[in-house]
Amino acid sequence: MTTLQQAEAAEHALSQELDRIVVKSVIYTSGERDPRAPISRPPDDGRLYMMGHDPRLPRMPERPTLFDFFKYRFAPATHLMQSARLARKNGASEKVVLACLVHDIAISGFIRGDHGYWGAQLVEPYVDEEVSWAIRHHQALRFYADESVGYQYPAMYVKLFGADYTPEPYIERAYQYARNHKWYMTARLICVNDLYSFDPTVQVQLEEFEDIVGRNFKQPKEGLGLDASPSAHMWRTIMWPTRYL
Ligand SMILES: [Fe+2]
Ligand SMILES: [Fe+2]
Repeated sequence: MTTLQQAEAAEHALSQELDRIVVKSVIYTSGERDPRAPISRPPDDGRLYMMGHDPRLPRMPERPTLFDFFKYRFAPATHLMQSARLARKNGASEKVVLACLVHDIAISGFIRGDHGYWGAQLVEPYVDEEVSWAIRHHQALRFYADESVGYQYPAMYVKLFGADYTPEPYIERAYQYARNHKWYMTARLICVNDLYSFDPTVQVQLEEFEDIVGRNFKQPKEGLGLDASPSAHMWRTIMWPTRYL
């Protein structure tokens, strides 16, 4: 068996244990299989397909809050909480602290590539425009130094992507645009307070940011994802990632 066949067999075995059949979205498997070829499905054996809560995941409360997503879908959110704490310690505004707290939620719980754009879109309906703008543009700014605030190209990127990595033209264009924008420094401060290495012995609790989130994140009363905002469906996908439709 090839690695992919093994993975499919393991998945089939797992889905046999659940009472509902779980089918993964194409984005889970693209790259592991040829997306031009038809998707092979194991026989359903008369069982129903997954259309709600996946029992392999912790169940979300009926009306989930941003913090519930942190607890049940983004944990452990150490990088985010430590970055937000650093921003606060550095005297940043509440908008910047909130932006730091959520700047990488796309990586923690959704989709990694272009994470700044996904993250901005997720929070856009619930935060000040400046906050989502900053999250969107930290995507590009992080690849470019700004000596005036002591931000250097991260040494970690050389290790991760190689010394010859250059961002794609769309990132370069986004950087040029952001650099001349009135909110440039808000996005830049996300990069400045972005902690690449953290002390695992330092504990940060979400409660530390309860006041800032309370004042700056418009929590929908129906629950995040169960409201009708333009990004509610994205939160629902994080909550129920394996629904058939
Ligand atoms: Fe990031
Ligand atoms: Fe980050």
